[in-house]
Amino acid sequence: MDYFNYENDCLHAEQVALSTIADEVGTPCYVYSRATVERHWHAFNDAFGEHPHRICYAVKANGNLAVLDILSRLGSGFDIVSAGELRRVLAAGGAAGETIFSGVGKQPWEIREALEAGINSFNIESQGELQKIREIAAETGEVARISVRINPDIDPMTHPYISTGLRENKFGLSADKALEIYQLASQDKNIHISGVACHIGSQLTELAPYRDALDKILRFTRQLEEKGIHVEHIDFGGGLGVRYHNEAPPSPAEYCGALLEQLELFGKRYPVTIEPGRAIMANAGILLTRVHYLKHSAESNFCVVDAAMNDLIRPALYQAYQEIIEVNRSSGSTATAYDIVGPVCESSDFLGKGRRLPVREGDLLAIRTVGAYGAVMSSNYNARPRPAEVMVDGSRFHVVRQRESLESLYAGESRLPD
Ligand code: LLP
Repeated sequence: MDYFNYENDCLHAEQVALSTIADEVGTPCYVYSRATVERHWHAFNDAFGEHPHRICYAVKANGNLAVLDILSRLGSGFDIVSAGELRRVLAAGGAAGETIFSGVGKQPWEIREALEAGINSFNIESQGELQKIREIAAETGEVARISVRINPDIDPMTHPYISTGLRENKFGLSADKALEIYQLASQDKNIHISGVACHIGSQLTELAPYRDALDKILRFTRQLEEKGIHVEHIDFGGGLGVRYHNEAPPSPAEYCGALLEQLELFGKRYPVTIEPGRAIMANAGILLTRVHYLKHSAESNFCVVDAAMNDLIRPALYQAYQEIIEVNRSSGSTATAYDIVGPVCESSDFLGKGRRLPVREGDLLAIRTVGAYGAVMSSNYNARPRPAEVMVDGSRFHVVRQRESLESLYAGESRLPD
């Protein structure tokens, strides 16, 4: 459920007409809805009710300061994968103590920075990483709180590039290896064991893989408890899918309910942490783009717009389907099937294929469900400035990231000395 709706045949974000934003800010432009972000966060938070829980929004989905600001005002925690994301969280008023550091390749300077900031915990993914954290914690006199990420070897039935919980993926550790690491960690005075973590993949549309993974994690925690290692919480990662096209993913309430039910059955009411990114942000954002040329050939019809694969790479990278709709519905022309393509010099530069739209040159289109993994994955390929980002809040809107200037694209570069 989101707040992008037609009023008098004109698509609005909350109470603001998208055509107004296009006129004032230009295109391409990402537009987010504050009410949608808040609604989705509350959907997870309310679903856990009185059960002790922490929602650590996955910053990688969209790390714009305005997004992080909205979430930190709600009391959200954060899941980060770099010191860069930590800096963003802190700059947006987020609490270090509610922040979890995930990822397979944390560098020593990032570990030091996170320890000094006082983050909640590190989700560690290798013995080498535990060793590094121990050394740095001993050096700085801090106590590092850790969980070990278990790879439960479960097929999440999603796109192979975003599946992470299979044995062949680079993520997490087998239960046997993790047990060794917990035993090592439990003997170190600079390490405090805070929990057990896992994350099996992204855009999951079924509950079964979650249930199977949680079952394995709970059996593992029992093994740990038997060895005298106490678990304070289970971090279940993110991954709940959204509807891009025909998918029918479980709702946050169904997903959280399934996790709680399984904990109940196991007889252990562990506090739960989850790390949703996409399910909070995806439907809270659209990409606004203008049609520049309609090009017809014997084989195809192309609708050339000013957004491209550098602004939104999901269709090119994952063959992802993103819904594309008109901003003004009253154009009166007949619908034709178009490939919606951008100006980048690659045939993979498409945003949608075979879309029936009654478009004319100059019309505005909205690409839906791009609030997560949209702007954050953009690049400057073809020397294209990244788009502006706008946050709509009721009847007002704020530019929360300026469109890049052409000069800024080469500001860090230099010519050779004479
Ligand atoms: N926690 C960890 C450890 C993760 O690796 C991820 C996502 C999340 C949480 C958040 O998952 P979510 O709730 O957003 O599914 N660029 C891809 C998605 C990559 C996801 C990577 N990890 C896409 O556009 O589909």
